Amino acid sequence: MFPWSLQPRRPWQGRRVVLGVTGGIAAYKSIQLARDLTLLGSQVDVVMTEAARRFVGPLSFEGVTGRRVARSLWSADGSALHLSLGRDAHLFVVAPATADFLARAAHGRADDLLTTVLLATRAPVLLAPAMNHRMWDHPQTGANVQHCRDRLGYHILGPHEGRLGAGEGSGMGRMVEPSHIVEWCGRLLSGRTGSLSGRSVLVTAGPTREPLDPVRFLGNRSSGRMGFSVAREAWLRGADVTLVSGPSSLPDPVGIRVIRVETARDMLGAVEAHVASAQIVVYAAAVADYRPMKPASRKTRKSHTGDRLTVELGVNPDIAAETASLTPAGGIRVGFALETDDLLERAGEKLRAKGFDLIVANPAGEDDAGFDVDTNRVTILDRHGGTQDLPLLLKDEVAGRILDRVESLLEGGMASGAAL
Ligand code: CTP
Repeated sequence: MFPWSLQPRRPWQGRRVVLGVTGGIAAYKSIQLARDLTLLGSQVDVVMTEAARRFVGPLSFEGVTGRRVARSLWSADGSALHLSLGRDAHLFVVAPATADFLARAAHGRADDLLTTVLLATRAPVLLAPAMNHRMWDHPQTGANVQHCRDRLGYHILGPHEGRLGAGEGSGMGRMVEPSHIVEWCGRLLSGRTGSLSGRSVLVTAGPTREPLDPVRFLGNRSSGRMGFSVAREAWLRGADVTLVSGPSSLPDPVGIRVIRVETARDMLGAVEAHVASAQIVVYAAAVADYRPMKPASRKTRKSHTGDRLTVELGVNPDIAAETASLTPAGGIRVGFALETDDLLERAGEKLRAKGFDLIVANPAGEDDAGFDVDTNRVTILDRHGGTQDLPLLLKDEVAGRILDRVESLLEGGMASGAAL
């Protein structure tokens, strides 16, 4: 949703990625991938097969990574390049991965530099296949992919359905987009032991819309960014994430189960269906507190209402309060409070009333925090009266700080921000 490449951070500094490029037309997209991985701070060593070099020139990759493209098994100083690249890599990505490469990888061949590095590495391996749809549908390709995934533990990403090479129309075989691959790289770089790996996380996000008639609704200015950031950060840390979102223009984050809903009552239903299996629940949605009691079945017209329209509103269910008892024992519940007055006092009251372990208090009415901006300035309150003031941060960074606190609670660490 917010391309990492646009963020003023280099979170992958010190991480080494080997990017294998094999001979398919999608190889041109891997230049973008190499660039994004580099901008995020990682050191990217591109290894091209001979066939890949027929599609794109090594110079393009060298231009975006600032490093020599590796093509030969032997480096100038006589050391075995495949061993050093394989040993030092934190992540091994092949994009595009052709049918031929998948066959060679599945059979443990070491007949060029790329397959040799693959055998020599113990880093997580991510393969993004791309080929003609008939080649993808071939049972031997299917068997090779299955072997790579189930026996060798490689992560297989895609392919997607879409437009193929010129003259081939559409079909299954298109490489997943570089931005999508970058997200998976982030999850794999966070380590096999991602700090939330094996945890199930449920997040609510966005506004809700309460219909007045078929074309009008009551809602609020929430964009959903804070909740989407929490969901994405949890996923990057290895969690299995479900995001229940009200109407938001943000695209579905990669890797996350997204359930789109309209009204508070729909959101309650979706949360009830998933909360019992969640160890961490983050209620970031700005739920509309009221809904029109009798939404009109047809568009309300001025000619019928005259110069005044009175609408009776009823109170919506409180999703956080109503699902508190459904969270499994030992689960961690996090709420948000956006307030115009008495911020900490009111946030503390909500924390107690709704049984949260943590509540994230943020002031409404500031230009750089709250609704519809990329940044936020929050205070995290805990059940023991501890408060932790955070500076102005990107919402992605705020999400990280919140999850740091959640992790420390899961580990039985100090809940109080004062000690952190
Ligand atoms: N919340 C919820 N369901 C609602 C209202 C709020 O789950 N119907 C959750 C929000 O997602 C948030 C927390 O409760 O985590 C506090 O929401 P907020 O809107 O600040 O508080 P309210 O309880 O609605 O109180 P008020 O609007 O009167 O301040």
